[in-house]
Amino acid sequence: MPDSLSRSPGLAAAGMPPAPQLIGNSAAMQALRAQIGRIAGSGAPVAIRGESGSGKELAARAIHAQGARAGLPFVAVNCGAIPDALMEAEFFGCRQGAYTGALHERQGLFQAAHGGSLLLDEVDDLPLAMQVKLLRALQERRVRKLGGSRDEAVDVRILCASQHGLARGVAAGTFRRDLYYRLNVIELAVPPLRERLDDLQVLCEAILARLAPRQSVRLAPCVLAALAAHAFPGNVRELENMLERALAFADDGVIAPDGLGLPSPAGAAARASITPLRLAPVLPERQLSLPGMAPRNMAPVLPLALYLCQAEREMITLALVRERYHRARAAQLLGISVRQLRYRMHKLTIQEPRFDDGMEDR
Ligand SMILES: Nc1ncnc2c1ncn2[C@@H]1O[C@H](COP(=O)(O)OP(=O)(O)O)[C@@H](O)[C@H]1O
Ligand SMILES: [Mg+2]
Repeated sequence: MPDSLSRSPGLAAAGMPPAPQLIGNSAAMQALRAQIGRIAGSGAPVAIRGESGSGKELAARAIHAQGARAGLPFVAVNCGAIPDALMEAEFFGCRQGAYTGALHERQGLFQAAHGGSLLLDEVDDLPLAMQVKLLRALQERRVRKLGGSRDEAVDVRILCASQHGLARGVAAGTFRRDLYYRLNVIELAVPPLRERLDDLQVLCEAILARLAPRQSVRLAPCVLAALAAHAFPGNVRELENMLERALAFADDGVIAPDGLGLPSPAGAAARASITPLRLAPVLPERQLSLPGMAPRNMAPVLPLALYLCQAEREMITLALVRERYHRARAAQLLGISVRQLRYRMHKLTIQEPRFDDGMEDR
């Protein structure tokens, strides 16, 4: 099976793990699940928009699993990953000998998805020539194998996904307007992870439970704060990769911020235990939005516990750096005892850099 393609039955067979769920209790995720619940039953095409790794395929699987076609095939194809020359055979199948190398008669994606749903991922990458053929198949609900002489009826619910939405391709002249109208009947937007930071904790827990089912793993304090400060261009997929890496570095099942490999300045600084002060300034009153006005400051609002944890970590690190890791003097600057400082450093997994240059006695 080529990389471009994944096939699975819509419902997990007995004994198989259940289909993965869209996890998250943020308002955005609740709204998304509610919208999916409303549109799943309709059978109409759905165009899903969202950044890479944000959960578009998962949303498509949820639409399929909650609709009338559940239990029938769900087929996903990455339109950007199929070579142009193989595209027609991939979508519609081919007869034996249709081209050099076509040694056997083969089913296409439409036949494989018959009765179920076909997800066209990165649909805006389809070349114009293929867009014409796809449109014809959708209008007539019939496909013809490459090298074949008769059409066959197919009954497939079409779902498609793209990062920026299809209208952009139409405006740029790279996506046919008639195909756009066919596909874009219902629009669904999956928000990026940085716009639903409330979901970080449950996502981390679910991902870790999946990655290490037989291990008890927990997050060190401030891991969530460090994650919340990251922009996650790769969204949930990036979080999964980060946690997999962190798990490999975990000490006694504790995931520490410096195991995450955060690429941001915050991450680099956390690794070096020198965290720059990046606390969001308290808004001056005139910047606060008035009722009926759009909020003017769109900085993400963090759960207070995360924010305080991050603030504490940053201030302690600043004091330590300023006093060249002389704990007694750093504690004095912070107005706490050395014992309290040691306790908080441990709790927040603040590590001191190794000094090989004959530091003064600390
Ligand atoms: N809300 C979510 N809850 C749980 N896992 C998620 C969620 N969103 C995404 N994932 C996981 O992140 C990864 C990427 O999701 P995917 O649906 O393939 O994203 P996309 O199709 O937008 O690139 C998958 O492993 C998926 O299971
Ligand atoms: Mg995808």
